[in-house]
Amino acid sequence: GKSGYDHYMLKEIHEQPRALRQCLRGRVDELSASVDIGDLGDLSPTGVQFVACGTSYHAALYGAQLFQAAGIPAQAFLASEYATGVPPIGDALVVGVTQSGETADTLSALREARSRGARTLAVTNVVGSTVARECDHALYIRAGPEIGVAASKTFASQLAALNLLALGTTSTDDTREVIAALRDLPGQVQSILDSSAAEAVAELYQDADAYFFIGRGQQFPVALEGALKMKEITYKHAEGFAAGELKHGPLALVTEKTPVFAVVTGDDERARKTVGNIKEVEARDAPVVAVTDGQNDAARYADEVLELPETHPRAAAVLANIHLQLVSYHTAALLGRPIDKPRNLAKSVTVE
Ligand code: F6R
Repeated sequence: GKSGYDHYMLKEIHEQPRALRQCLRGRVDELSASVDIGDLGDLSPTGVQFVACGTSYHAALYGAQLFQAAGIPAQAFLASEYATGVPPIGDALVVGVTQSGETADTLSALREARSRGARTLAVTNVVGSTVARECDHALYIRAGPEIGVAASKTFASQLAALNLLALGTTSTDDTREVIAALRDLPGQVQSILDSSAAEAVAELYQDADAYFFIGRGQQFPVALEGALKMKEITYKHAEGFAAGELKHGPLALVTEKTPVFAVVTGDDERARKTVGNIKEVEARDAPVVAVTDGQNDAARYADEVLELPETHPRAAAVLANIHLQLVSYHTAALLGRPIDKPRNLAKSVTVE
């Protein structure tokens, strides 16, 4: 059942601390700053191609960045586009990210990769799923069953599992910091669930014409995911952009009726550039909701703030997404939408 929650989606949003603990349990050792993902630790890929759809594609974009940061060439592909114009695979590892493990587009991209000699790995929630049976290897995200059609806890768990995959198969300078950030994540997710101002933000902007989401680097996939969730469950127009792309077109759509959610953490060059983008939308009178850790000037130019604790940018992506899930959920609830079963959508998409 829904354990007292109005919708499965809200229940599943609240299950994220537990889902993340399950994903990390027995796989991370903080003392030795090491990750144990069994045999997968021996994969040592020289290149990685991710294939996925929808929310899982956003996780794949994030995963590709983790490998790039470790000096391994990596790219994320929409599974349905994979067959066209894919660069040579060589001995790359092809990773299918799919919660259900049954998504036809993703299965078919992985079959294509296998037919070209690639090793394949499934990152999935479902033991015994088609993807797990067909791939050479599987990494389970252990989120527990997800009933709501819109993916919530499985996205958070995919991001955590992709961190384990990157840490377990590559070496980076900041392994210790990332492991510490992963350890803190379930508790930080809980405090966001307990204190997020998302419902108040949803009330303020429920009548908006459209919603925009911007982010850079690790926060770019979060912007895309924020917009997808908003579309799916509120039926409102929403778009996610790389913050730097705003002025290359989308800025023409920005008005006082289009709230812009800006995810910006830390105080580096990237954060400063995103703050610059926030100023650009603020100058067009768009309401700005900053999802920020207070390390930069974002809050100064924002109408509303959704607060993040200070952490590694990788973990901040998971945390920022929790606020955005709640904004979409509460907006959809205020609009009276059938949140767990949005029109025209199915939980698992078994046709191409
Ligand atoms: C979004 C959503 C879909 C799925 C996509 C892939 O909330 O649920 O976009 O993410 O259909 O599904 P899986 O991960 O099962 O391959």
